[in-house]
Amino acid sequence: MINFHSRGFPYHRGRRLRQSKNFREIFSESSLTTNDLVMPYFLREEDDNPEIDGMPGMRRYNEKEIINELKSTIDIGIKSIAIFPKVHDKKKSEEAEEALNNSNLICRTLRKIKNKFPDLIVICDIALDSYTNSGHDGILNSMGQIDNDKTIEQLAKMAVLFASNGCDVVAPSDMMDGRVKIIRNQLEKEKKINTCILSYSAKFCSNFYAPFREALGSKEKIGKSSKSTYQINYKNKYEAINESLEDIFEGADIVMVKPAGYYLDVISELRKNCSIPLAAYQVSGEYSMIKIASDKKILDYKNCVLESLHCIKRSGADLIFSYFSKEVAGWINK
Ligand code: PBG
Repeated sequence: MINFHSRGFPYHRGRRLRQSKNFREIFSESSLTTNDLVMPYFLREEDDNPEIDGMPGMRRYNEKEIINELKSTIDIGIKSIAIFPKVHDKKKSEEAEEALNNSNLICRTLRKIKNKFPDLIVICDIALDSYTNSGHDGILNSMGQIDNDKTIEQLAKMAVLFASNGCDVVAPSDMMDGRVKIIRNQLEKEKKINTCILSYSAKFCSNFYAPFREALGSKEKIGKSSKSTYQINYKNKYEAINESLEDIFEGADIVMVKPAGYYLDVISELRKNCSIPLAAYQVSGEYSMIKIASDKKILDYKNCVLESLHCIKRSGADLIFSYFSKEVAGWINK
């Protein structure tokens, strides 16, 4: 973009429009509201530990605690949440059967949440990593490789199960091929016509998910093994655009880039290439870096949180998943 009107200094003085807070505010090119923010929550079984060492300020909630917590979340203006379960090791298995159990942690909690707060938009992760012994998002074959086509069948059943328990948005985060298509077909077949699909379409094989895996109890399970045969290589941008366009074609209502902060080029490129809503996930590692550095007084907490989120918004995201969401909603709406 070339500004033909500018004859340069002193006709143009950039500082004129930055001279006071009101000037800066009326000329802000983007803004952040509570509509933009999704708050993720970790769930636990009754007798499990609430503490997450790698994510100070975050915890795991049991069914009763989450209901209590959500009252204030809704009061403060948050309209959507995402829930992630930490399932007991004894319920994990090779084929992740627990994912399809109608009384698993997610299904039980969904029923409670939707009964109490029917308008709250609840987003559920569709992936098997909470339920597999391997900590992988898919089912392994006898060679130890992920069986793509077997996995997506299971994911489609899981999506229908969660939808029938009240989940508004199913969010496949597994990066298997063809999962959006099969999930959409299955939802239609079961008359779940209003269930949205938010596809984690541009999900990179990132090292910044480590605190999340601790929160879910899959960190030890996955060990030194990597998700690189399904998640996208962080060196690639066009592959991420391609995956996202493919998921739109297969029936996604919303696509997502994840992580967010180091991937703003992907967000902005995708924004130019698609016209459906675009989400971005500020992941656990991005959260913990700011949180821990500011706990140590190295960074200013509030300013860094706001900068990180505004920059994601500016790059083109419509919806941001962030562990800071609830607190930021309080700052915005006070
Ligand atoms: C599970 C899933 C992950 C995240 C969201 N869903 C981890 C992974 O793929 O290993 C990461 C979220 C975060 O780090 O905050 N498929």
